[in-house]
Amino acid sequence: MSASSVRDVALRAGVSVGTVSNVLNHPEKVSPAAVERVQRAIDELGFIRNDAARQLRNGRSRTIGMVVLDVRNPFFTDLARGAEDEAAGSGLTVTLGNSDENPQREATYLDLFEQQRVYGVVISAYADITERLTRLKQRGIPAVLVDRSSPDGPFSSVAVDDLAGGRLAVEHLMSLGRRRLAFVGGPMGIRQVADRLEGARAAVASHPDVSLEVIEIDALSVLAGRAAGADIVGRSPDERPDAIFAANDLVSMGLLQAFAMQGAGVSVPGQIALIGYDDIDFASAAVVPLSSIRQPSALIGKTAVEILLAEVENPDAPPHHVVFQPELVIRASTRG
Ligand code: RIB
Repeated sequence: MSASSVRDVALRAGVSVGTVSNVLNHPEKVSPAAVERVQRAIDELGFIRNDAARQLRNGRSRTIGMVVLDVRNPFFTDLARGAEDEAAGSGLTVTLGNSDENPQREATYLDLFEQQRVYGVVISAYADITERLTRLKQRGIPAVLVDRSSPDGPFSSVAVDDLAGGRLAVEHLMSLGRRRLAFVGGPMGIRQVADRLEGARAAVASHPDVSLEVIEIDALSVLAGRAAGADIVGRSPDERPDAIFAANDLVSMGLLQAFAMQGAGVSVPGQIALIGYDDIDFASAAVVPLSSIRQPSALIGKTAVEILLAEVENPDAPPHHVVFQPELVIRASTRG
């Protein structure tokens, strides 16, 4: 398909070139009807704006656009590193964006990658972006979802079975004889967190003598974990959980910091056993080495790029869904 120009769009929409330019750059200056006609012409012609057209004439960009939920989380930088190493093997680079769990920022990166005509997109999505990724695919830009399995979805995905991971974490805590469990995680709008909690609940369901308190936090961060830990420290000992499953290792580290604070009087694992998720490097290096549910983060990134490369070669191939199994890593925070 040859690259369409602004003039082609103007002719197709029955407006001036200036109007097309305004729709692209100052849509507020154009009547809704004209905007709609121009957008329809853009979609029909597969028009790509500004420098992307030049890249199109020279072939596809050699950069993969990647968006992750939180670059502060080593899980995602490990995942990005795995993707980058695989991309480099094919002469490609990776541009990494951070959505910060914000749908608007996520959309901004996807618009940027479309304009730059990236080779493909690898994304840990916050929102349901099926429609947005479909528009990218119509422009010849494939996308692979990471970190959240979507076995029925139209886009390939690479993730870990978070239901199994949640079950594994709680079964381990119950194997220690702990009975007053707590799940510390959130926001529940993040599918990974909700799936881990669902797996935890499934594990507890067959143990009537075990309780599972849910302590919802507003971010998967060390600070949020530390605040939740301070609340637990403030309770009377018999009101505290005797074991905690944290939705990821950053939260787990925050909880550990709160329990280790001067005068907190909470021992790990003696009074509270603690397990996290991801098995980032900091988990093993914590003052009390943390047990965790390991995700093969670099392998997830590597696999996503492998799938993307295959889809560029064969755009009509059906979506490919890879689900890795989580692994229990036992360290001092739940030993004995
Ligand atoms: O970003 C949310 C969490 O989901 C990360 O810690 C990682 O576990 C991902 O799967």
